[in-house]
Amino acid sequence: MDPQPYHAIPFVKGLPLVGNLFKFLRDPLGNAQALAQHGRVVRSRSFFETVSLFGPEANQFVLHDREGNFSSRGGWKYWIDAVFPGAIMAMDDPAHRQQRRIMQAAFKRSAMERYVAAMGPVIEAALDTWPTGPAQPLMAFAQLKALTLNIAARVFMGMALGPQADRMNQAFVDTVRASLALIRKPVAPLAMWRGVRGRRVLVGLMRSSLAEKRASPGPDLFSQLCHAAGEDGESFSDDEVVDHMIFLMMAAHDTTTSALTTMFYCLARHPEWQERLRQDAQALPQPHLGYADLAQAERTEWVMKESLRMYPPLTSIPRNAQRDCSFGGFQIPKGTPVGISPIHTHHMPDWWTEPTRFDPERFCPERAEHRRHAYSYLPFGGGAHLCIGQHFADMEVKAVMHQVLRRFRLSVPEGYRMPYQLVPIAKPRDGLPMTLAPL
Ligand code: HEM
Repeated sequence: MDPQPYHAIPFVKGLPLVGNLFKFLRDPLGNAQALAQHGRVVRSRSFFETVSLFGPEANQFVLHDREGNFSSRGGWKYWIDAVFPGAIMAMDDPAHRQQRRIMQAAFKRSAMERYVAAMGPVIEAALDTWPTGPAQPLMAFAQLKALTLNIAARVFMGMALGPQADRMNQAFVDTVRASLALIRKPVAPLAMWRGVRGRRVLVGLMRSSLAEKRASPGPDLFSQLCHAAGEDGESFSDDEVVDHMIFLMMAAHDTTTSALTTMFYCLARHPEWQERLRQDAQALPQPHLGYADLAQAERTEWVMKESLRMYPPLTSIPRNAQRDCSFGGFQIPKGTPVGISPIHTHHMPDWWTEPTRFDPERFCPERAEHRRHAYSYLPFGGGAHLCIGQHFADMEVKAVMHQVLRRFRLSVPEGYRMPYQLVPIAKPRDGLPMTLAPL
C-alpha cells in the first residue's frame, strides 16, 4: 500500500502558540507516551512542528539510515552552531565520516589507559573535600559537576588544577549554558552573550597551547587530537582541533554528570545494590581504578546502564529529513524535522520487564533485555553518530564510583524522591542533597 500523505499523520495540537512545549519540558516521558498513543508516527509542535517516531524500528530507521534520509546537521544546528561551530555531531557525510575517522585515534586503547590513570588523583582530591555526616548534606549534583569539570581540565586539557583551570571551567559553563538559551541573539548580559564570550576565552586558551601540544605529545585528549591521524595519515588543522576540543568537552560534561547523579540517587535509594557494588570495589586492591580493572566492575556497569535507561541524559534525538522518505505508512517530505525518543523506548513494556522498576540485573548476560532489539536501548544513540565517548564515560563513571564506594555510604531520607527535570539534560531540581557516612 502506498504511504499516506504527510497531512494524514496524526497531529496533536497542544496549546495555542506553544503547542506541547511546556509539557515536553516538564515531563518528556509523559509527553512522549501521550503522543505515542496516536501511533508510531505523530506530528506535534514544541519549538517547531516535528514528526516524532516511536519504538525501536523507528530508532533504527532514523539512526541506522542506510539510505541517507536524515541530516544530523539539520537536527542540531539550531542548538549548537552559535557556540559550537564545527561540532562533529552537526556534520553530515562525507565530512562527518572523514573527521570521525581521525577523532577515533584519540580514543584508542593506549590513550584510554592514560586517561583513566590521570582521573584517579583528581577524584581523590575532590572526595577529600566532600562534607560528611547528616549535619552537612552533600549537594550531589553540584559536587559531581565540579568533579567532572576538574577531570576535564586535567584529562582533556592536561591542566593542573588552579586559577587557570577555574577560568576555563567558568568559560566552559557559560558556553554550554548558551547552547540551551531561549533567546538566541548575543545580547548582554543574557546567556547567549555570556556563551559567545566564554567560547572566546576557550579558543584563546587552546590556541595559546596548540604549538606546545603539537611539538611534544602528552597523554591528554588535546594532545591526542593534535597528533591524531586517520588511516591515510590525514590529520586535523588547528581550527579543527580547537572546535573538536570545545565540543568534546561539552558532549562529555553534562551527560557524564547526569549519569553519575542519577546513579548516586539510585544507589542511595537501593542500599542493597550499593552494598554489592561496594563489595566489588573493595575486592580490588588499588585505591584508584586502572584500565585493567574495568571488567571487574561488571555490576557497576549494570547499575550505570539501568540509570541511563531510566534517565537518559538525552531524552530525544533530533534529525531533519534531507530526502523524501516514508515510515509507518506515512510520507515524510524532505525538510521535515524528525525526532526519536530514547526515553520512550526505554520505558516500553513490549521490550522491558516492569520498565518503571529499578532492576540492574535486566542487563546481566542471562537476561540481557537490552539485546532484544538492536535499537531498544540507546542512551548513546546509534549508527554513524553513535557516541564516540561511550567507553570514556563508562571509564569515568566506574573510576568515580570505585573511590566513592570505598570511602562513603550514600543515603537519602526514607521516602525521598528526587524531583528532576529531564530536558535539556536530566538533572535534579533540588541538587540532590544526600548524606555521606565515612566508612
Ligand atoms: C553518559 C555519558 C554520555 C551520554 C549519555 C552520551 C550520549 C550521546 C548521544 C545520545 C549521542 C548521539 C547524538 C546524535 O546521534 O545526535 C552522542 C554523541 C557524541 N558524544 Fe556522547 N554521551 C556521553 C558521554 C560522552 C563523552 C564522555 C564524550 C567524549 C569524551 C562524548 C562525545 C560525543 C561526541 C563527540 C558525539 C558526536 C559523535 C558523532 O557525531 O560522530 N560523549 N553522545
